Amino acid sequence: MLHLLHPALVHFSVAFLIAGGACQLWGVFRRRAALERFGATLLVAGTASLLPTIVAGFLAKNSIVVPPDAIGDLELHERLGFALAAVLLLSQFWKAWRGGRLGGSERTGYAVLVVLGLALVVAVAFVGAEMVYEHGVGTDARGSAAEKGLEDVAGDPGVLP
Ligand code: HEM
Repeated sequence: MLHLLHPALVHFSVAFLIAGGACQLWGVFRRRAALERFGATLLVAGTASLLPTIVAGFLAKNSIVVPPDAIGDLELHERLGFALAAVLLLSQFWKAWRGGRLGGSERTGYAVLVVLGLALVVAVAFVGAEMVYEHGVGTDARGSAAEKGLEDVAGDPGVLP
C-alpha cells in the first residue's frame, strides 16, 4: 500500500510545474507581470512538492518487487527525478538570491533553466508511466491476468501481451 503514495503525489508536482513554468515563460515573453508572478508562485509550489514526491518515490521503490526488465527504466526515472530537482532548485535559489529581480541576460539564463525543467518533468513522468503501464511496476497486472486464465484478443489462454 505504501507505494500508492507516490502516484497520488506526482500529479501535484506535474500540474504545478507545467502550469507554473508555462505561465511564467508566457508572462516573461509577453511582458505580462501579473501572469509572470502567478507562474512564479506555482513554480515555487511545484519545486517544494518535489520533496514529498521523491521521498514517496523511494518508499515505493523499497516496498515493491521490480521486474528485472524494468530496472533500467526505474534507474533512469530516478536519475531524471534528481536532475529535475537540481535544475529547479538551482533556478529558484538563484532567483531568490537576486531578490526576485533578474537582469536582462540573467532572465534569459533563468528562462533556459525553466525550459529544461519542463522538459525533465515530461521525461520523468513519461518514463514513470512506461514503468507502470508497459512493465506493470507496482501493479499485479501480470500475475493476476495469467492466474485468472484471461484470454488475449486472439483467444489464446494465458499471459496477456
Ligand atoms: C527520484 C526519485 C523517484 C523514485 C525513486 C521514483 C519511483 C517510482 C516508482 C517505484 C514508480 C512505480 C509506481 C509505484 O509503485 O509507486 C513510479 C512511478 C511514477 N513516477 Fe516516480 N519516482 C521518483 C521521482 C519522480 C518524480 C520527481 C516524478 C514527477 C515529477 C515522478 C513521476 C512518476 C509518475 C508519473 C509515475 C507513474 C505513476 C502512474 O501513472 O501510476 N517520479 N516512480
